[in-house]
Amino acid sequence: MYILAIESSCDETAAAVVEDGRRALSNVVASQVEEHKLYGGVVPEIASRRHAEAVSAVTGRALSEAGVDLSELGAVAVTYAPGLIGALLVGVNFAKGLALSAGLPLIPVHHLRSHVAANYLAHRELEPPFLCLIVSGGHSHIVRVEDYTRYTVLGRTRDDAAGECFDKAARAMGMPYPGGVHLDRLAPTGNPQAFKLPRPRVEGSPYDFSFSGLKTAVVNLLHNAKQKGEEVNVADLAASFQCTAVEILCGNLLRAAEDTGAHTLVLAGGVSANSGLRARMERECAARGLTLYAPPLSLCGDNAAMVGAQAFYEWEAGHTAGMELNAYPTMPV
Ligand code: KG4
Ligand code: ZN
Repeated sequence: MYILAIESSCDETAAAVVEDGRRALSNVVASQVEEHKLYGGVVPEIASRRHAEAVSAVTGRALSEAGVDLSELGAVAVTYAPGLIGALLVGVNFAKGLALSAGLPLIPVHHLRSHVAANYLAHRELEPPFLCLIVSGGHSHIVRVEDYTRYTVLGRTRDDAAGECFDKAARAMGMPYPGGVHLDRLAPTGNPQAFKLPRPRVEGSPYDFSFSGLKTAVVNLLHNAKQKGEEVNVADLAASFQCTAVEILCGNLLRAAEDTGAHTLVLAGGVSANSGLRARMERECAARGLTLYAPPLSLCGDNAAMVGAQAFYEWEAGHTAGMELNAYPTMPV
C-alpha cells in the first residue's frame, strides 16, 4: 500500500510517499531553519505561515518524485501531535482536505512514534519488541516498543529535552540555531576532560533525565569567565558538554537494557544524529553483545517518510480518523 504522509509539527514542511511502511519512494523536506535562525529559535507564528505556503507544493513534489498518482494511494497520513499547534494544524487540515476530496482513509501519526519508525525504513529486519531512546528537540524518552503501536514509557526528562539542552548550550557558546549539529562538529576537536560538568540524576527514577542543571552549568561557566575577563576554550567546552550529555543518555539507556533484559536497542530523533552518542552506543553495545540500530543521518531529523512508515502500522492496527481529527500540542507516546 502506498501512503502519502505529511509532516508539519515544527519547522520543516515535509511530504513523502511510503510503500508498506518500509520503502520511501520520495521524501521531500522544505526547511524553514534559515528564517528562524535570525531569531535564535523557532517562531511559531512564522512556522505556521511558511507551512501554509509550502505544504501544497511540497506534497505535489512528493507525489511526482515517487511517480505515484493520487488515485494509486491507499491512505493519507499526517502528524497530529505533539508539536507547535499552529504548525500541526496546517498539516492536519491539508491532509483532511486531501483525504476527503480523494476519498482516502486518514491516518493520524504521533510524532515520536514516527521518529522510531525512521528505523523501519533503513533496517528491514528490525521488528518490535525493542528498547528505544527517543531524543529530539522537545522530548527525551526511554521507551519499550512492545509492538508497532504499543509503547511503555520507562523514562523521560523532568525538565529540558536533550536537543533543547544541546541547543541552549551551543547558543551560550555563540553558535547559530539549531546549535546541536554545530556543537557536534566542534566537539571532536576539543578535550572532553577539560571541564567537569554535572551529571544530574533523578532520585528514585533511574531512567528519567534532568538536563537543565547541565545547561545552567555551561551558561554559568561562560558567564563567570566573561566577568573575570578569562578566555574559555570553546572546543574544550563543547567536547566536555557532549561527553557529559552522551554519558547521561547512554547510562540510563544501558541501565534500562540491563534491567529489562533487552537485546535490541534503537536510537531515534534529531539528537540520534549526534556522532558522540552513536559512537559511544556502538562501543557499549558491541562490548555487551547487544544489537544497536540508528536511523541514517538523513532520517534522524523531521521528515515525512518516517510518518508514512509508522502510518502503515497504525493502519494495520485500525487506527484511522475521520474529519473530526484535531491537532494536539502534547500527547503521550
Ligand atoms: O527530532 P528533531 O529534528 O525535531 C524535534 O522533533 O524536536 O530534533 C531536533 C533537535 C534539535 O535540538 C537539534 O539541535 C538536535 O535535534 N540535533 C542534534 C544533532 N543534530 C540535530 N543534537 C546533537 N547533535 C547533533 N548532531
Ligand atoms: Zn522531531
